[in-house]
Amino acid sequence: MTVEDPFAHLHDEGYAHVFDAGFVGHQTLIQCGGRAVQPLDTGWRLTLDLFDEGLRQRWYEDDECPPSQWAVPRDYEIEAGKEVSVPSCWNMLQPEWRYFEGAAWYTRILHSEHAPDGERLILQVGAAASSALVFLNGRFLGGHRGASTPFSIELTDALIPGPNRLQIMVENRRKRDGVPMHHFDWFNYGGLYREVSLMKLPAVFVRGVRIGLVPNSAGRRIFIEVEASDQTNEVATLHCSELWDHPLDIPLHAGNGRVEFAATPKLWSLATPKLYDIEVRLGRDVWTDRVGFREITTKGTQLFLNGEPLFLKGVCVHEDDVALGKVSTLEDTRRRIADIKALGANFMRLSHYPHHEQVARLCDEAGILLWAEVPVYWAIDFGNPSTLADAENQLLELIKRDCNRASIIMWGVGNENADTEARYRFMRHLAEAARTADPTRLITAACLIDRERFAIVDRLTEHLDVIGLNEYFGWYEPDMSGLKRLIANSSPDKPVIISETGADALAGHRGSGRVLFSEDWQASFYQQQWQIITATPWIVGLAAWILYDFRSERRQTGFQRGFNRKGLISEDKATRKQAFHALAEMFKSHR
Ligand code: GCU
Repeated sequence: MTVEDPFAHLHDEGYAHVFDAGFVGHQTLIQCGGRAVQPLDTGWRLTLDLFDEGLRQRWYEDDECPPSQWAVPRDYEIEAGKEVSVPSCWNMLQPEWRYFEGAAWYTRILHSEHAPDGERLILQVGAAASSALVFLNGRFLGGHRGASTPFSIELTDALIPGPNRLQIMVENRRKRDGVPMHHFDWFNYGGLYREVSLMKLPAVFVRGVRIGLVPNSAGRRIFIEVEASDQTNEVATLHCSELWDHPLDIPLHAGNGRVEFAATPKLWSLATPKLYDIEVRLGRDVWTDRVGFREITTKGTQLFLNGEPLFLKGVCVHEDDVALGKVSTLEDTRRRIADIKALGANFMRLSHYPHHEQVARLCDEAGILLWAEVPVYWAIDFGNPSTLADAENQLLELIKRDCNRASIIMWGVGNENADTEARYRFMRHLAEAARTADPTRLITAACLIDRERFAIVDRLTEHLDVIGLNEYFGWYEPDMSGLKRLIANSSPDKPVIISETGADALAGHRGSGRVLFSEDWQASFYQQQWQIITATPWIVGLAAWILYDFRSERRQTGFQRGFNRKGLISEDKATRKQAFHALAEMFKSHR
């Protein structure tokens, strides 16, 4: 690094703006599509950077020589960083890093085996909480906002012969204009907490595919959309030997193509989650996936899966683990699905942000339905255009990543947002963006009730297919009378799901009657809720809040000690509380 004035960085508070223009998003996101990837899971050095010194002093510019030969001192040395593996959350790596909210620098060397040999080399980041800047050999290649969605950055042109220095600056500061904003009821983990890998692709490749049943085609027509990496006019081909005995042509025009084909696939359902192996070929590139074909619709206040009435018996889940923080291992996801099945549930709300891609893939196989959402949570800066762009991009990244997952039946565009004019415009825009991007799924949001009219009258519901309702009568309000009053005052013209309801209980704490934080009251709470919910024809589902106790610094009673205790299972993900068994009995005895 060479600077005329060694103190210049102390006086430049505009140091970060130079990166703003380089943020990537859904347009450049590449679906993995079953292509081989090289995991970048080891060899990383991590240096915390509380004051953003890395951007101020340009830690991404390399000083080729070791400290002993420095002409002038630096404040950064790669080898002084902690050796870490990825995925991981820095909060869980050292006790003194537990509450760190700031920037951190991940650095590792790409060696010759990573060279693209005539192909294009793409960096795939599963998620970085909560924003990231990527540098290769000191060159800024792109940034990303959004803690829970993947992004792709091409490295090809910045590669040099020999070792290449890859640096990813990740920061998890909470921001008033962020999505979510700076106040939320879960733990603010930071880091590269999902897989980071390299993908080698040919000059022209498949960037994304969307495939599914043509709506209202009685399961007899399949559409496929293909997006290529470039403005090519080549012909892609669709291969699925179970459906067609020959490849089907998909002509591309300026890199995009959409075709519909006759087919009568065995429909994906809860009882028979049938998946088809499909391939899309474009030149030398082969994109693959395993997809189920099904149709989710509403009529009046009822939900239908493939034309059959549907009642959602479910539970909400956070990404949270006492040992791993926000990292979702395959084992953790398999355990989550086993608990869902043991509960007799058929539905999971992936709250309050996009979860790991493997969750929907495993739910495709298990026959579990999902509500996926973006973290437009509580008091978002609804009047800020940059915040809207961030929210819309996260939504479109989620849809692009998971659009071929049969298990996902709903896109949620928000949670518990007070009804103001700015919020209405912001959320209506998101609902319309989701419907445009994916007309095959239902659009929903977890709404609040109108306290004055004490009814479900949120204006946003005009733009939703399914109304999510968060209500905690019996917990945050002394009894269930409010729920009965709300139901009596409401006459929705579309399906309603209780998208959250629950009560805290510390595992092992017992008591009879309304003893708050006791297992017994939590169980009684669900028995009372269930009786009212199942007696209301226009309520077509329940997502209990929540499957597991989870970290939240907002929760500091002796019962909680930094955990939200509304879990049906404690944070050890093994101790099932009374409420788990009570709800399981009700779910299993319901039609
Ligand atoms: C809200 C919110 C959740 C929160 C829950 C609670 O409904 O959506 O994120 O954890 O209430 O109070 O436990």
